Amino acid sequence: MGKLKVGALISGRGTNLQALIDAAAQRGYPAELVLVLSNRPNARGLKRAEAAGIETAVVDHTDFGGDRPAFEAALTERLEAAGVELICQAGFMRIVTAGYVARWWNRVLNIHPSLLPAFPGLETHARALEAGVKLAGCTVHFVREAVDQGPIVGQAAVPVLPDDSAESLAARVLEAEHALYPRCLKLVAEGRVRIEGEQARLEPDAVDELAGGRLVVPR
Ligand code: GRF
Repeated sequence: MGKLKVGALISGRGTNLQALIDAAAQRGYPAELVLVLSNRPNARGLKRAEAAGIETAVVDHTDFGGDRPAFEAALTERLEAAGVELICQAGFMRIVTAGYVARWWNRVLNIHPSLLPAFPGLETHARALEAGVKLAGCTVHFVREAVDQGPIVGQAAVPVLPDDSAESLAARVLEAEHALYPRCLKLVAEGRVRIEGEQARLEPDAVDELAGGRLVVPR
C-alpha cells in the first residue's frame, strides 16, 4: 500500500515538524511529507524541511490583506499541486475558515499544547499554571472551524511541578508533543481512526498502541 501524502503547515521553529520528519524517515512509516508550507517566509521550520529534502512553499498571509478565503485558496492550490491527502498543522498560527475546513473535511490534524478542551487558544501554559492544574499535556485533533476544537485522536499528559514557569512547563509539554504527533499521524495514515459524530474512534489495537488513547510521559 502506498504511503499517505502529507502536507505540513507551519509558522515558526518547526520542532513538531521535525518530529514528523524523523518519524517519516523510519522504515515502514505509513505517511510521507510531500510539502512543507509556511505562512511566514522566515519560519525556521522551512530550513528543517529543506535539510530533509522536502519541497517547501511560502504563502504569506500578509499578501492577502486579511482576505482569509483567498489566503486559504492559495494554500489549497499548493497542497493540491503536491498531491496532499492529509494536512498536519504544526505550529500553524492562522485561524481557519469554514470553507477550508469543509474542503479538507477530516483531513486536517492539529497539535495543541494543552489537554483539550481545557485551555484552547494562546498562553495555554500560563493559564494552566494560574488554574493550578496538576497535569498538563497536549492534544492531536482533527480541525474544525472553532479554534482548537474537533475530534481528539490522542493526548499526552505530563506533570505540572511546583516550581514550574510557563517556559519550563512548555518545554516539558513540547517533549510530549514530539512523541504524540507522529504516533497519531501513523494511526490516521493506517486508517485505524474512524470519525463517528464528533468523536475519533481508535481501533482497539490502536488504543493499545497509544496506551489507552493517551500517552503519559513520566518525569
Ligand atoms: C507547539 O507547542 C504546538 O503545539 C503549538 O505551537 C507550538 C509550535 O512549536 N500549536 P513548533 O513550531 O512545532 O516548534
